Amino acid sequence: RTQHSALRTNLKNHINPALWQLLTKASQEATKRGWHLYVVGGAVRDLLLAQNIQQEPLLLKDIDLVVDGFHESADAGAGVELATALQKLYPNARLDVHGAFQTAALLWHKDPELDSLWVDIATARTEFYPYPAANPEVEASSIRQDLYRRDFTINAMALRLTTPRAGELLDYFNGLIDLEARQMRVLHPNSFIEDPTRIYRGVRFAVRLGFTIESQTESYIRYAINSGVYDRTARENNKTPALSTRLKAELKLILEAPYWKRALELLDNLSALQCIHPTLKLNVELLRQLRLLERCLQRFDNSQAITHWLLRLEAIIAHLAPEFRSKVATNLQLPDDSIKRLSHFSKAMDNIAGLTECRLKSQVVGLLKKYDLETLILAALQSQRSIRRSIWQYISVWRFVQAPLNGNDLQKLGYKPGRAFKEMLDDLLAATLDGVVNDRVSAEAFLSQKYPL
Ligand code: CTP
Repeated sequence: RTQHSALRTNLKNHINPALWQLLTKASQEATKRGWHLYVVGGAVRDLLLAQNIQQEPLLLKDIDLVVDGFHESADAGAGVELATALQKLYPNARLDVHGAFQTAALLWHKDPELDSLWVDIATARTEFYPYPAANPEVEASSIRQDLYRRDFTINAMALRLTTPRAGELLDYFNGLIDLEARQMRVLHPNSFIEDPTRIYRGVRFAVRLGFTIESQTESYIRYAINSGVYDRTARENNKTPALSTRLKAELKLILEAPYWKRALELLDNLSALQCIHPTLKLNVELLRQLRLLERCLQRFDNSQAITHWLLRLEAIIAHLAPEFRSKVATNLQLPDDSIKRLSHFSKAMDNIAGLTECRLKSQVVGLLKKYDLETLILAALQSQRSIRRSIWQYISVWRFVQAPLNGNDLQKLGYKPGRAFKEMLDDLLAATLDGVVNDRVSAEAFLSQKYPL
């Protein structure tokens, strides 16, 4: 019991007092109705990780609560009822109810006390995964079953908020031991077959927390991959959300994190990049391209006009043989622009190879101006050095060059507006790029010679 209250006190001391008050109110509302209330999943994991570092406040932006019956299972609507009751106490919060699974979420956006916070409230779920009958001594509670359907032991612990035994840690699968051993262990052998995105989640947590993947778990991962995960990602677009959508969401989380490179390396070691495409390998060449991409994003994208994680993913897909790119991008349901870019990429590469023939800056600009920035960057990554240099020059300087005169100036000089204007302006820009024209005077001279009035 001392231990129970210690963990509860720890939670209280580590989180924002307003959040603690919210959890206290939620527990009171649950108790009134004869329910138990638990914090589950990531928040418990992070609390246990943070508790050794006393000064560190725990920034919880996303909390999962589970309601369970006191004597028997709570009815399916309990989570929604509790969320509704809480929303009355917190009119600032937005209430979202998801019918299918009877879960509710309370959302605060930049609240003065709670800041941005997302609290999911679910009812303990027993219906989806059968209770493992092997050990009759384990109580067949619904919270246990709810935890059993989760991914890793460190994510499958619950902290009871309600009395009696408030503060008790429910750790049926030895999550605490794994947390101390700093390892990711899956709950059951079929976990990755049921949900292959858990492979990516496991890698993400392992790299983020500096954990290893426990060896049995690793063998389950390899087994799931060998059983043909890729075909399923390509096929299973009938579920909601589709496997491919969830895989894309995981890829986003990984590719926008500072540790994306280590995560890709680990995925590759586990052969898990095969979920994207069976031929995908993180070889020396792809790594070189991704490093180059980083330098390029730092140099050229000060305004953050490019979605970095997405371009990393596109560079990875562009590394596949041309015939696979479009299909992989479509399977992952990337944005239309990305799909188009990857579908036309090999044609763009052929075209851009023509840069070796260009002698003048104006020819380089003429060739590159029809491509968007992302295509140019992807092309540079795969091109030989001389072509890459021209692309960098184009991106950083030449694409911004303007002629000293515009259409208005042409009219003032006495030229009649019309179809010829575009050609004249293009000529003028080319002459500017190539240094033939460098100010208004030389521009006017250039025009009067080439287009006499
Ligand atoms: N979960 C799972 N399988 C998935 C996704 C989630 O079993 N494919 C379970 C995990 O046990 C997780 C819980 O659902 O703890 C909530 O998921 P989520 O909020 O995505 O993850 P957190 O563990 O809370 O991690 P984070 O710190 O990234 O929010």
